[in-house]
Amino acid sequence: MLDQIEDLGSKAREELNAVLSLDDLEAWRVRYLGRKSSLVDILRSLSKIPIEERKQVGGRANAIKRSLEEQYEVKKSDLENQTAQPGQGQVLDITLPGKKIPLGRLHPTTQAFNEICDIFVSMGFKIAEGPEVEWEYYNFDALNMPAEHPARDQFATLWVDPEHCSEGVLLRTHTSPVQIRVMEKTAPPVRIIAPGRVYRYEATDATHEWMFHQVEGLAVDKNITMADLKGTLFEFARRLFGHDRKARFRCDYFPFVEPGVELAIDCFACNGKGCRICKGSGWIEILGAGMVQPEVLRRCNIDPDVYSGFAFGMGVERIPMLRYGIDDIRYFYSNDLRFLTQF
Ligand code: FA5
Repeated sequence: MLDQIEDLGSKAREELNAVLSLDDLEAWRVRYLGRKSSLVDILRSLSKIPIEERKQVGGRANAIKRSLEEQYEVKKSDLENQTAQPGQGQVLDITLPGKKIPLGRLHPTTQAFNEICDIFVSMGFKIAEGPEVEWEYYNFDALNMPAEHPARDQFATLWVDPEHCSEGVLLRTHTSPVQIRVMEKTAPPVRIIAPGRVYRYEATDATHEWMFHQVEGLAVDKNITMADLKGTLFEFARRLFGHDRKARFRCDYFPFVEPGVELAIDCFACNGKGCRICKGSGWIEILGAGMVQPEVLRRCNIDPDVYSGFAFGMGVERIPMLRYGIDDIRYFYSNDLRFLTQF
């Protein structure tokens, strides 16, 4: 009888190892530990065997039963944990339509950056970069705007606390300082664009933000003229806005160019008739430009008698505003997905 009990124990353990589901485990429990199981039968029939054998067989049968009960509990909790994990025990219906994974997209400003850069790169311009936290020298002095120059008022400035800096440090108000950084390091011919973020300490309205983006352009070589500037920018406007939008040059003043101009596009909202967005003028200015001031070239050790250059700086947000008829620049950075997902 002892052999019979040992065999039963081994068989039960073997089968328990092969159990993979809670249903199978319950069937195993009924088979080996249930009221009608062989082991319980043996325990019940102990009274019928001789007393000397009874002690030994009873002790062994009880020990195997306890060990099987313990192994049963361990297996049960293992299987319960497994079925609690996602996907376990679930049936996969491959005919169900898949769940759509929401795709991210590029911010309209980034899309505009990419488009603008692609156009100028195809014209032979290289991309340059400069810091957003800039020295006063590069943002103003080197661009012909010494301290107290009235043109500094045009660039309402966010200064870095002067207590922490030995010289003037600010958040750059335009991308023009990159012109100086490039010319200091590169001998002509130079042909670069510099995309980046700029900051101004000014009240916001439909066309003005305190933080926005610009793309600077600079070309320096022998015999560069105003005609090159006009040709480059009109071709740029044609490629970006198509033939239907009108573009115009008007005189403007920037201390670092002479002569200076602004490029404006006829207003998308009123088609040039005059409205709130274009402030009644019918035109929206997108960039400032001009021929690089000889004094600025000289500061960068470029001889203005040999070389000349043109430069321009455009507001990036104004481009998607014009193209898509967005009537308020403040939508760009209010993080409203209803706006952002349209582009
Ligand atoms: C400048 O920033 C000059 N550095 C541009 C320049 C470069 C002129 C090289 C000559 C040679 P201005 O302040 O006008 O210029 O800004 C250039 C463009 O940035 C504007 O035409 C406009 O499109 C955009 N812009 C200016 N201020 C804001 C603002 N607060 N919010 C959004 N866009 C602005």
